[in-house]
Amino acid sequence: MTAAGVITLMTSTAGRADDEGSPIDGVKIPAGYREWKTIAVNQLLVPGKTDQLRAQLGNDIAFKAFKDGTLPFPDGAVIVALHWTRVPSEYNNQVLAGAFPDAQSFVVGSRVNMQIMVKDSKKYAATGGWGFGDFKDGKPGDEALHKTCFPCHEPAKDRDFVFTHYAQ
Ligand code: HEC
Repeated sequence: MTAAGVITLMTSTAGRADDEGSPIDGVKIPAGYREWKTIAVNQLLVPGKTDQLRAQLGNDIAFKAFKDGTLPFPDGAVIVALHWTRVPSEYNNQVLAGAFPDAQSFVVGSRVNMQIMVKDSKKYAATGGWGFGDFKDGKPGDEALHKTCFPCHEPAKDRDFVFTHYAQ
């Protein structure tokens, strides 16, 4: 291998710590996903356990399908869900206080994890055509975790196993 080849390899590895992808489906963190378009945002509150802000991003195929309401999603669609802690912003609150004394502004804290769904109706036929991946700090979770994904998405069967609706 040439020196340039080695450098390219090292650079791409440094940017992606998930070389093997997720257990079971081998889903990897898609390159450039942070530039993708927003499908929707939501909040998940499990009292005493989880208080998260979440955003769902889509690649071009997924985004178009969400926007047009196309079901099932076409092969090649990829959805990335970013999960962050939700924290109060004292700074925003101070600024808002003059106009809105009781205002409580909440903002994104730190990244908790990211979840990915990749549509490939042949490869992932056993799980509704979707491959699943869950990553923390760029590293995939274990097999036991990945066994939970599809069963819990099954109630959304009539929406091709996807819960998120496009936010206008
Ligand atoms: C306990 C049930 C449950 C489990 C287990 C689960 N999900 Fe989900 N998932 C949901 C629900 C409900 C939503 C929508 C609400 C939300 O995002 O908080 C969702 C949303 C998503 C989304 C955004 C697209 C959509 O369907 O709305 C992705 C991507 C996703 N999950 C991937 C995964 C992956 C990968 C796993 C396994 C590691 C997993 N999920 C496990 C219930 C579950």
